[in-house]
Amino acid sequence: MTSVLGLFDSGVGGLTVLRRILERHGAVRCIYLGDTARVPYGCRSPEEIRSIAVEVVRWLRQQGVTTVVMACNTTNALARDVAEGQAGVPVIGLIGAASAMVRERRVGVLATAATVASGAYRTSIEALHPGTQVLEQACPDFVPLIERGDLHCDQLRRAVETYLEPLMANSVQSIVLGCSHYPLLAPLMRQILPEDVRLIDPALGVTHQLDALLGPPSARKQSADCLKLCRLCVTADPEGFCDRAAPWLGERPRVELVQLQS
Ligand code: DGL
Repeated sequence: MTSVLGLFDSGVGGLTVLRRILERHGAVRCIYLGDTARVPYGCRSPEEIRSIAVEVVRWLRQQGVTTVVMACNTTNALARDVAEGQAGVPVIGLIGAASAMVRERRVGVLATAATVASGAYRTSIEALHPGTQVLEQACPDFVPLIERGDLHCDQLRRAVETYLEPLMANSVQSIVLGCSHYPLLAPLMRQILPEDVRLIDPALGVTHQLDALLGPPSARKQSADCLKLCRLCVTADPEGFCDRAAPWLGERPRVELVQLQS
């Protein structure tokens, strides 16, 4: 049976995961759902996040996906169990994948307020690497600013400086980008951070986990047409999503507006 990956996020963030998957695995059938009607997730209550996850995963299942990739750390942190219950197919998340990539003893985690409050990253990293110091920083301003589409605005730069400051003051050696929107800010972060601080993109760990399903990267041909096998769907504002996605994907994708309620 051909694999169909179902990815979801609140908005454009999960495209950073999709891009990593396409970079490593080439032409893969994917259905991507950006729940733009409800972005951001990160300021919502655990109950809301869990009921959103159920609805989104149910919709992906109705589309016939064979594996769900939670391209959203916030739902991974708070709703992994209900997503698995709903999916009926294997579910892959970012938090375990990122934790497995940690090598340093002092690690910072940038994430949404809901993810930080859940303690999911701390628990996962400490379980895999006992004795590691984990410093978590909630970044509530990032997602709303990123979803506005201007990654070079002064407000975003100031927010990056503000959120990185406590991590640098504690001399972290690596920083987990614990929200799938944040890899979009990696170039800005690199300008501010000391060179020896490593940025960890959880999506890279996910792409390696997918080798078991999709085969090793060399077995696939990378092609500019990879995106043609992907169906991109949103719950609001397809045009705006398309504008924001284009620079990141390297072309203007076709985007469908969908309703989740069956
Ligand atoms: N990109 C998502 C995450 O990884 C959700 C961010 C949000 O909507 O607040 O956490």
